[in-house]
Amino acid sequence: MSNRLVTGGRADDDVQYEAGLRPRSLAEYIGQDRIRDNLSVSIAAARGRDEAVDHVLLYGPPGLGKTTLAYVIGHEMGVAVRATAGPVIEKSGDLAAMLTNLQRHEILFIDEIHRLPPTIEEILYPAMEDYELDIVIGQGPGARSVKVPLQQFTLIGATTRAGLLTSPLRARFGIVHRLDFYEERDIDEIVRRSAGILGVTIDEEARHDVARRSRGTPRIANRLLRRVRDYAQVRADGHVTAGVARAALELLEVDDRGFDEVDRKLLRTIIDKFSGGPVGVNSLAAAIHEEKDAIEDIYEPFLIQAGFLDRTPRGRVATARAYEYFGLPAPGRDSRLW
Ligand code: ADE
Repeated sequence: MSNRLVTGGRADDDVQYEAGLRPRSLAEYIGQDRIRDNLSVSIAAARGRDEAVDHVLLYGPPGLGKTTLAYVIGHEMGVAVRATAGPVIEKSGDLAAMLTNLQRHEILFIDEIHRLPPTIEEILYPAMEDYELDIVIGQGPGARSVKVPLQQFTLIGATTRAGLLTSPLRARFGIVHRLDFYEERDIDEIVRRSAGILGVTIDEEARHDVARRSRGTPRIANRLLRRVRDYAQVRADGHVTAGVARAALELLEVDDRGFDEVDRKLLRTIIDKFSGGPVGVNSLAAAIHEEKDAIEDIYEPFLIQAGFLDRTPRGRVATARAYEYFGLPAPGRDSRLW
């Protein structure tokens, strides 16, 4: 994945900042109101019954707060969150060790859960369903299966690609939530909160500008805020005025829509090289030298939700809005020969 400024994917220097900016409780969490309401019911119910929260699957584009929500649930339940990721777990023993170490009601958070190897995924089935580990000892005819009891725990899985989850795994999550891009006013509120925590003074118009260019993604909003803060410190007196924010964002080549050069290249390639589409994602990936997965997970979701790209059964199509964005006349129906 390229090191874009406006991707939702986690960049190295996000990690340290995110720890300080992340809301810890549901009350501090801004946006995603429906999910927040639902989770507060699930948490209160579990607490009332003195049980672990049902297993939770969170899916949606990167940067929208899946990991944050996992830690918020942990905080609200008053339990520890043990975190790992699908690609990191190589041996079934790794996962078995994590599961057996969990204390009562604790949370196991598995990021990118769609990338768990299948043989390891199977360990999760009895663990999730019966709080039990099935361990096979020995080989051949003498092999025995031993059941190891586990504490009652909550598995929280996060994925950008719910469609890649196997159905047996998906079926074992009692709570499933899709995170969507945030409303601009929620991002605005997040920028206000983050500026307060970082000690950045920022004018209202500048805050709106940062929010508007953040593609409905808190991680991007916080990243742009940090860059704008740098600019204000070096090129001005540290205070972020509307002019400072605009100059900083222009220097970063993040336009008014939050598009950067990769977005523009993607749309422009569909228009120029593929006559507006439809074009298959593989051809598109090859043409712009990006990975297919990155296009599907990171670049496309926002362009689709913003109405610049359509995903059709025959491939991706640039919409009239995309043509308009580049100041091009949209092709009429007659000029589309497919
Ligand atoms: N920082 C990042 N995401 C946030 C959210 N949803 N609410 C508050 N602060 C945040």
